[in-house]
Amino acid sequence: MINILDKTFVPFISQEKIEHRIAELASLITKDYEGCCPVFIVVLNGSFLFASELVKKIPLSCEINFIRLSSYSQTTSTGTVREIIGMDENIQGRDVIIIEDIVDTGLTMSQLLNKIKALEPKSVEVATLLHKPEALKTPVNMRYVGFEIANRFVVGYGLDYDGIGRNLDAIYVLAE
Ligand code: IMP
Repeated sequence: MINILDKTFVPFISQEKIEHRIAELASLITKDYEGCCPVFIVVLNGSFLFASELVKKIPLSCEINFIRLSSYSQTTSTGTVREIIGMDENIQGRDVIIIEDIVDTGLTMSQLLNKIKALEPKSVEVATLLHKPEALKTPVNMRYVGFEIANRFVVGYGLDYDGIGRNLDAIYVLAE
C-alpha cells in the first residue's frame, strides 16, 4: 500500500508482469514490421517508461519521435487535443506506431490519430500499455494492448496522480 498526496493506492500489476507483457508486445511488433523501418511516436509524459522498455526489445531499424499534446484541459471529458508539440519527423509514407500509456475514454487517441493520419503515413497503429474498455467513449483501433483493466484510476510505470507516481516500477490502483 502506498500513499500519494491525499490518496491511497494498492498494488495492481507487478513489475514482473508488466515487463513480461511488454516483451510479448515487442515480439509481435518485431514480427509484424519485419523488413520495415517504423517510426515510433512516443506520447509524453506518461508513456516514457513503457516506450523505453518496449523499443529496446525491438531489434528493428526504427526511428523514435517524442511528442506532447496540448489540450484545453487534460482532466475534462472533452479531451480536446489542440496541438501536437514536437512532431518534427516527416511521417509521410512511413509506418507509424503511436506509443501511449493508457487509452481511457479514447478521446485523446482518436483525435491524435486523426491528426497523424492527416500527415499521410503509409500506416498507423497504436501500442498502449493499458486500456479501460468500459470507459471508452469513441471507437479506437488499438493493435497492441498491454492490459485491459477495469475503469479504475491507476498510477505508476509512467502514470501519475497530480504529477506524482510516474517513477513507481509497478502499477497501483486507487484503494476502494
Ligand atoms: P482519454 O482521452 O480519456 O483516453 O485519456 C487519456 C489520458 O488520460 C492518458 O494519456 C492519461 O494521461 C490520462 N489517464 C486516463 N486514465 C488514467 C489513470 O487511470 N491514471 C492516470 N492517468 C490517466
